[in-house]
Amino acid sequence: MDEETFLLKVKGLQRVIRVRSDQFLLKSLWQQSEENVIPLRCMGGGCGQCKIRILSGSYRTEKMSAAHVSQAELASGFVLACKTVPLSDLYIEVVKQDLS
Ligand code: FES
Repeated sequence: MDEETFLLKVKGLQRVIRVRSDQFLLKSLWQQSEENVIPLRCMGGGCGQCKIRILSGSYRTEKMSAAHVSQAELASGFVLACKTVPLSDLYIEVVKQDLS
């Protein structure tokens, strides 16, 4: 299937970011966001630092650590940006993490 490009809006940011259907959200966010709204950490679904909540839109996820995103959170739209791929335009909220 050919890649598609969707628009990503982050709650609290004016800028709209282009995200690709063949790329995880965190990578697109880092490539195109001067604000660096999400820390770039393990990129492997293990540290939990890229946790976001999808407020609207379609997406798919790959395996994530249940220690960072519970089943209940998944059902409420919480995901790890490094393991989430867009399937439509998205509106997201960044979940602030304790980086200490
Ligand atoms: S960057 Fe570590 S879980 Fe996403």
